[in-house]
Amino acid sequence: MPATVEIRKFVAPQPLQVDSGPELTRCSAALRRAFGTSFTLWDGNSGELLHASVQQPGSNDLFRGQLARAIHGNEPQFIADEDCLLLLAVPLDGPHGRPIVATASFVVRDVSQKEYLNGAATLLGLDQARAMAWIMRQQVWPADALLRLATAAQAQIKAEARASDLQKEVEKLSDNLASTYEEICLLHSVTQNLRISSDEEELCSLVLRWLKDCLPAQAVAIQLLPVAKEGHTTYKARTQSVLYALGDCPLDNDGFTTLIETLNLEAGCGPLVANRAVTDDAGWPLPKVQQLIVVPMAEGARVLGWLAVLNHPCGGEFGTVEASLVNSIGAILGIHSSNRDLYRQQAEFLASVVRALTSAIDAKDPYTCGHSDRVARIGVRLAKELGCDPKMLHTMYMAGLLHDIGKIGIDDAVLRKPGKLTEAEFNHIKEHPELGYRILADLHELADVLPAVLHHHEQWDGKGYPFKLAGEQIPLIARILAVADAYDAMCSDRPYRRGMPVERVEELFQQGAAQQWDAEVIRAYFACNSDIRKISQEERANLTLDVQQWT
Ligand SMILES: [Fe+2]
Repeated sequence: MPATVEIRKFVAPQPLQVDSGPELTRCSAALRRAFGTSFTLWDGNSGELLHASVQQPGSNDLFRGQLARAIHGNEPQFIADEDCLLLLAVPLDGPHGRPIVATASFVVRDVSQKEYLNGAATLLGLDQARAMAWIMRQQVWPADALLRLATAAQAQIKAEARASDLQKEVEKLSDNLASTYEEICLLHSVTQNLRISSDEEELCSLVLRWLKDCLPAQAVAIQLLPVAKEGHTTYKARTQSVLYALGDCPLDNDGFTTLIETLNLEAGCGPLVANRAVTDDAGWPLPKVQQLIVVPMAEGARVLGWLAVLNHPCGGEFGTVEASLVNSIGAILGIHSSNRDLYRQQAEFLASVVRALTSAIDAKDPYTCGHSDRVARIGVRLAKELGCDPKMLHTMYMAGLLHDIGKIGIDDAVLRKPGKLTEAEFNHIKEHPELGYRILADLHELADVLPAVLHHHEQWDGKGYPFKLAGEQIPLIARILAVADAYDAMCSDRPYRRGMPVERVEELFQQGAAQQWDAEVIRAYFACNSDIRKISQEERANLTLDVQQWT
């Protein structure tokens, strides 16, 4: 039983605590520009002194109680009136929307040296003499001008704060856009290279190389899980898990399996991110893995593999951007792997159908047992010699297996007759290409095979059947099949005659080139006749129908 490890599911990082200093400085500077003097800044909620003005004599606590009034009004106002002084309070939005209040004392009338300014001195927090000295140095302001100027400054500070917020938002969006663009480019590259028939190892290598280029990671790895049980498949289906890794990967296939089992991951678990806060824990199963992102490659509830990014270089941490990218790639690969497996299952099914049909022909005409299989392999060899592509070779192979399927509809007495056929009997035999066509016509997967089934008894000179097509009117696959069929038929023993020696068959091929058979196909035959002789002598092969085997 694997040890239970507490894991941290992926959580979007919290916003960083922003330094509030620059915002207070900006408020302060704007007020100084407007009034020619600096203001004292207070926290509007707590009354805490945030910034003391060097040009205001003191920060008199006696007036703190008035700050709340200033915040409530939300507009500049005088919160104290002592002798010749007014204490101006300007409510502002501070960092993170926290209310702040800026205050400053202003002289609003001329003062005589002889005046006794007790209230003003108290407001300034100075003795009489120093208060008078400070007052005498000040500009005299009209009170209404102070309020108008404060209102304008307040609006300007709000506008600057808004501009600053927008700038930050633009920078954040720009960063997100850059990450998203990189992610889209990578996903585009991956999807461009997804082909059902493409080599899985090659695809994994490509994806790992792209991920390694995009992400700060010491290693990236893909583990593909088995899709079939040993011995339960005729195709190259994976029956063991396999690990593809790039970089300095601290895990082998067994280690990776242990990791997944220990973390108790499953199809719908989403991306798992573990950084040092988790991996430093004593219960972490693999000390060599210090930072990790792992995502399932799944289709619905079925996991087909795992995609992992291991160990951040320089001890950094994996976060949202990396996890999102890996998750997207994992989802695409999961669907692709599932599609590949469905394709494999479909191909397996088709192979079963073809096997059943081929067995039916053999059962019907035991004298030609193995003929279809030999014709199929000889046809493929000829097609290869003619430079046909892998898809055509696959079609050729199935066409060889199924070309005489129409004989199922021919009377046994005619099919197995040891002597010479009457004209009526021969005409009945000649129905088998069209019968075969009709038998297979509804199997869409075998559509490419139909021309070969229908035309494999046509002749280059137009004297064949069923449609007396001539020359290149006859599909190439049928022209190849005609030579393969003739070779095996002439070489094999029949109830009414012994098989011909190969030398005699080859004489007939030379005579019949450009008459009965396509001269190009006959040329191909002579270019590989030793191979064909071997093929015709081999034991009947198992039908794998694996397109990969011809590539
Ligand atoms: Fe035939």
